[in-house]
Amino acid sequence: MDINKIRNDFPQFNENKDLAYLDNSASSLKPKCVIDALDDYYNRLGVNVHRGVYKLSYEATDLYEEARTTIAKFINAKFEEVVFTRGASASLNLVALSYGMRFINQGDEVITTELEHHSSHMPWFNVCKVKGAKLKYVELDKEGRITVEAFKKVLTDKTKVVAITYVSNVMGYITPIREIIKLAHEKGAIVTLDGAQAVPHMKIDVKELDCDFLSFSGHKMCGPTGIGILYGKYNLLDKMPPIEFGGDMADTVRRDSQTYKVPPYKFETGTPIIAGAIGLAEACRYLDKIGFDFIVKQEKYLRDLAVKRLQEIEGVIVYNPNAETGIISFNIDGVHPHDAASVFDNNNVCIRAGHHCAQLITTWLKTIGTVRASFYFYNKEEDVDKFIKAVKEAKDFFYSF
Ligand code: ALA
Repeated sequence: MDINKIRNDFPQFNENKDLAYLDNSASSLKPKCVIDALDDYYNRLGVNVHRGVYKLSYEATDLYEEARTTIAKFINAKFEEVVFTRGASASLNLVALSYGMRFINQGDEVITTELEHHSSHMPWFNVCKVKGAKLKYVELDKEGRITVEAFKKVLTDKTKVVAITYVSNVMGYITPIREIIKLAHEKGAIVTLDGAQAVPHMKIDVKELDCDFLSFSGHKMCGPTGIGILYGKYNLLDKMPPIEFGGDMADTVRRDSQTYKVPPYKFETGTPIIAGAIGLAEACRYLDKIGFDFIVKQEKYLRDLAVKRLQEIEGVIVYNPNAETGIISFNIDGVHPHDAASVFDNNNVCIRAGHHCAQLITTWLKTIGTVRASFYFYNKEEDVDKFIKAVKEAKDFFYSF
């Protein structure tokens, strides 16, 4: 595929021709078709859904619900299994606050890992603390990976939930999730999967994975900010209580009783994220057009190239040289990641520095934080050149004292 043609889809590259955007795990850039879809809703419609008894509202409702159909198809879910949320964090919290608070009891066990983003781990830490359940961690291997063998060691008859990442936002490792899901199900446990770093980068089929819940955000996959998805198996969503109450989710409300709509509406309280949903559906169509074969190949090619060149620089520590996805975590020995980050910024290279909202893994790595470069399909070899130049410049600058 012609990478320059792809880059033409992104207005940011016209604004900022010299930009090397390598902070894609934090958020991706947005293509014009997504911005146009948002514009179209705001320019032509701009009205509420599900309520108005007039043509504009009917059209907005159709677009909003068609968006759900598109996104359901994108992950091979059913329409009614797709809940719109504010983002992956909100989705992960919804599962913990609803399923966890209702179905976890004293003495139960929840399995998680030190590779989790705070949004995957912290909600279950909270549930376990409140309900008197035990939170258990899969011991990571020498590289910092989750293995099936280590998972088996913490899985017991008491395990009720496995809260686990599909792709780590710091290490970029792909969890051997199919086997883990199978083993968890054999014990009667459910698996809630953090897909924030997976869904934008690889083809996901929730039926084939057989995960019980999958959470992801729109803004990391070319969609708008403020929209995310919770996929949940319908029989689970159906028995879960809502965590927010009010407009649109109510069915009947009386002085002494209230009932709720069926999923997914039970979990979508108040005016929904209409423009966000429409924009995210457009992003799904756009990613399908680019194709995940190309996305996977391009990211891997660029990250392997960058890792090879990083490893040639003395004093650079790469924490995940063998990761399968486009994430590189590294440090320049003796240089604080935030100090290094300022040199990247001076070179118009966007990276992230710090603990990446995943303090468990930075602690495991015995560091205060890392510099993280994360690639997406619109990156090109010149971005790697600029990135490596910035690494060398940062090293030279801080080693000159
Ligand atoms: N979770 C996002 C990241 O890893 C923000 O940067």
